[in-house]
Amino acid sequence: MTLLLDDPGLLRQAALIDGAWIPATGRASVTVTDPATGAAVGDIPDCSAAETEAAIAAAEAAWPEWRARTANERGALLERWHALVLENLDDLARIMTAEQGKPLAEAQGEIRYAATFIKWFAEEGRRVGARNIASPERDRRIIILQEPVGVSAAITPWNFPAAMITRKCAPALAAGCPVIIKPSELTPFTAIALVELAVRAGFPKGTINLLTGRPQAIGAAITASPVVRKLSFTGSTRIGALLFRQSADTIKRLSLELGGNAPLIVFDDADLDLAVRATMASKFRNAGQTCVCANRILVQSSVYDEFAARLGQAVAALHSAPGTEDGATIGPLINAAAVDKVAAHVDDALAKGAKALAAGSGRRDGNFVRPLLLGDATPDMRLAEEETFGPVAPLFRFGDEAEAIAMANATPYGLASYFYTRDLARSFRVAERLEAGMVALNTGSIAMEMAPFGGVKQSGIGREGGEAGIAEYLETKAFHIGGLEF
Ligand code: SIN
Repeated sequence: MTLLLDDPGLLRQAALIDGAWIPATGRASVTVTDPATGAAVGDIPDCSAAETEAAIAAAEAAWPEWRARTANERGALLERWHALVLENLDDLARIMTAEQGKPLAEAQGEIRYAATFIKWFAEEGRRVGARNIASPERDRRIIILQEPVGVSAAITPWNFPAAMITRKCAPALAAGCPVIIKPSELTPFTAIALVELAVRAGFPKGTINLLTGRPQAIGAAITASPVVRKLSFTGSTRIGALLFRQSADTIKRLSLELGGNAPLIVFDDADLDLAVRATMASKFRNAGQTCVCANRILVQSSVYDEFAARLGQAVAALHSAPGTEDGATIGPLINAAAVDKVAAHVDDALAKGAKALAAGSGRRDGNFVRPLLLGDATPDMRLAEEETFGPVAPLFRFGDEAEAIAMANATPYGLASYFYTRDLARSFRVAERLEAGMVALNTGSIAMEMAPFGGVKQSGIGREGGEAGIAEYLETKAFHIGGLEF
């Protein structure tokens, strides 16, 4: 496949270890395909355990000099990287659409979103500081120091090929930690282009390393290494639990942003137009392939028919097509397994009594799935228990607030939840009772650089973004100073 870029130098088929690009040619490699066409986008090295250890050693060697720099110096490099990402926004979006499938406008939006993390943490790094705490003795002082945790690894998913990298690496780098990035083997070229821009920005060699290829050998070497002090992972709960187990022997610090099963509750006093707009934004972003997208839409019986009719009109206006085509609002799903899962959820729901209320237009062959609104969904259906990860919106009925909260919380997951009401007291009652790391009232968007992002229960541990995002890469050291004469 020929991808037309303003700067073809961004489409490298290589990994980066200790400042040297390792090409995919003449070695074990993996071919990356476009989910819209099946055409090859390019090849990437299938990095081995030995190469992972080389990247870890490079990061370890880079650490003393990197942590010794001032926050301003590190921030200046991040600012330069941020500027280059925005200057190359169109090329980065073209690469992302080619390997991930999302419509170009959405890919551009993700690049802007990714850039916000670089900017935010360039600034946040300057606010990391020591604290002097009350001493029990006159001649003693206790200072709480914040120090970089050390070599940090980021294992990132295919659904947000840029933003999940910057959300992890920008705080690590700002805090003074060198990084090892392992992007999904389905969408590595966006990561490679971002790292190429970081190299151009001037990050010293070994500070950013990029390992491409299949995850098993790389993940095992990262988790087994005592040098890697921190691992941040976004992906499924199954793989998160595996990494958790593998990291136990080295007592690694972990951030795990895992699966969700987000409820979205529409109460009878909601502004229904706002609820429809926000439901569309949450449910159909990235063709429903987000951990935080509404998976179960719970609607109070008295407004169920009206809400279903209005949401149906919005769903019918969606159009599934290659992300490069004008008018595409839903791109292909990532692969055939994703399509099969969506089909299995829909078949199961229809067999158990759900009704198809509205569908979008466009393609439904290959990896394309038409957006679908289902009514009369019930808790015994697969789509109530598992993330569908596709453009299917199921509506469930509820009677009162207590029932809605019980239904919302009836899942082992707790990442995002959404609700719509104009009642102030109910707003606080429901927000406090929903078991989730993020609760959204009267909005469908919760992902932004200044707010903590993460889950409870089996949706993970740790937070990304905001103040909490950089704290994940800092160790606390208590510095006791005695014998001071006053
Ligand atoms: C995710 O789906 O894992 C991340 C979504 C986001 O950052 O909005």
